[in-house]
Amino acid sequence: MISSIFQCNIIELSKINDRAGNLSFVENSKNIPFDIKRVYYIYDVPGGSDRGGHAHKNLEQFVIAVSGAFEVSLDDGTNKKIVRLDRPFMALHIQKGIWRETRNFTSGSVCMVLASEEYDEKDYIDDYNKFVAFTQK
Ligand code: TYD
Repeated sequence: MISSIFQCNIIELSKINDRAGNLSFVENSKNIPFDIKRVYYIYDVPGGSDRGGHAHKNLEQFVIAVSGAFEVSLDDGTNKKIVRLDRPFMALHIQKGIWRETRNFTSGSVCMVLASEEYDEKDYIDDYNKFVAFTQK
């Protein structure tokens, strides 16, 4: 089934407030709808940079700006939207089959990704025209 950008929503993670700092957490299948198989994070991104686009055939993920801010552009082949992530308790759910680009990283920002699958090069669609063809299958 092809996903829509309208299914890519921000969820607010649990947050424990403390004078000595806040704490957020994620638990498999409790506050997110899948079991996490992999966590990766992107850091040391030069301020103002963009990272190239791709889609995944099967993988879904949550993207969190654990530090700093950046924008995620989402495209399901028909509709597009841009989401700004700038708080560590906001997690953007990117469904499978969505073309995404990450843009405008602030200096020192960290993008953490909670993924439903292990790394698999074959799950990537790196070419936008192939992505559009994929959404029309
Ligand atoms: P990629 O997913 O293309 O990142 P972006 O689209 O944000 O630029 O990954 C960049 C490189 O890192 C690519 O060579 C694959 C490698 N990689 C892994 O080896 N394991 C991983 O879990 C991820 C996410 C990437």
